[in-house]
Amino acid sequence: MFSFSPVLKTIKQILTPHKGILAADETPATLGKRFAAVGIENTVENRRAYREILFTTPNIENYISGVILQDETIRQTTSGGLFFRDILQKKGIVLGIKVDQGLAPFNNSTNEKITQGIEGLDRRLEEYYSMGARFAKWRAVFAIGTSTPSKECLAANTHLLAVFAKLCLKRSMVPIVEPEVLQDGDHDINVTFETTKKVLTSVFLALADEGVSAKKIILKPNMVVPGENGPVVLPEVVAEKTVECFKTIIPESLPGIVFLSGGQSEEAACINLQAIVQYGKQCPWQWSFSFGRALQNSALQTWAGKKEQVDGAQALFLRRAMMTSDAKEGEYQTF
Ligand code: G3H
Repeated sequence: MFSFSPVLKTIKQILTPHKGILAADETPATLGKRFAAVGIENTVENRRAYREILFTTPNIENYISGVILQDETIRQTTSGGLFFRDILQKKGIVLGIKVDQGLAPFNNSTNEKITQGIEGLDRRLEEYYSMGARFAKWRAVFAIGTSTPSKECLAANTHLLAVFAKLCLKRSMVPIVEPEVLQDGDHDINVTFETTKKVLTSVFLALADEGVSAKKIILKPNMVVPGENGPVVLPEVVAEKTVECFKTIIPESLPGIVFLSGGQSEEAACINLQAIVQYGKQCPWQWSFSFGRALQNSALQTWAGKKEQVDGAQALFLRRAMMTSDAKEGEYQTF
């Protein structure tokens, strides 16, 4: 009888209709920046309390198939002493983990970064697997500038993405390969189109070099949008540019594409996701989301560290997850 390998089974669980991924993998330092914006002190207890709000939101499993945790969070518990990882698994949510260790300047550059953390990765994957993680994420970033991304930076980062993917598969974990072309800048959408094309070409060449099959990974790319200070375009243009860019490069065998939100507002991320899903409905890949900020912003602002706002924050988080799920299915409506 035909049976799925553990990796293919996990991919199927993640890419479930109506559901996507919650990226709750901000490092303490990154979450600290989000907290500072709403006046919350960056303490272990506040980070714990915040993650408890997200993970214990009733019915979130109707819209979320996987959650990406971070080293601190996979070891943390609720105020009642239950591991977050157990709570999520009980809801049928697949556990993921961010395994890169952040960014460092590439070759002393001021605007190019290389992802850290390949050393000791195999051992860390083994430990996370023993804690229940079944997928892992590695993020490489590419800034758009007059001479960036450079060939050297592209090659170095995409090689690391491919080595990461290979190590995950060895441990029966699904690699979420995240090459992010940053939105910073005033460039137009065509510049993002060309850069994303270059980056994705390099990613799939590097994966092939390491013998990693596209069938066994999930891609987490940026949408093709203009720079944040560049000329604004309609969602239909974002959709056309994104899908046309991907069509020329991404193998048909790739099971799914889960977008990052990359600093877009909750509303913009949903509207653009829906436009992409509609424009790209003939594409062979499943379209989905793996949003961080675009799922969490309203909930975090509403909570703002206040106990009496927990219910309100959970209600907004659930609503945003539902709306993002609707966008993924092409059924999003603004209210
Ligand atoms: O690495 C980035 C996160 O996984 C996605 O976050 O949706 O806020 O860009 P974002």
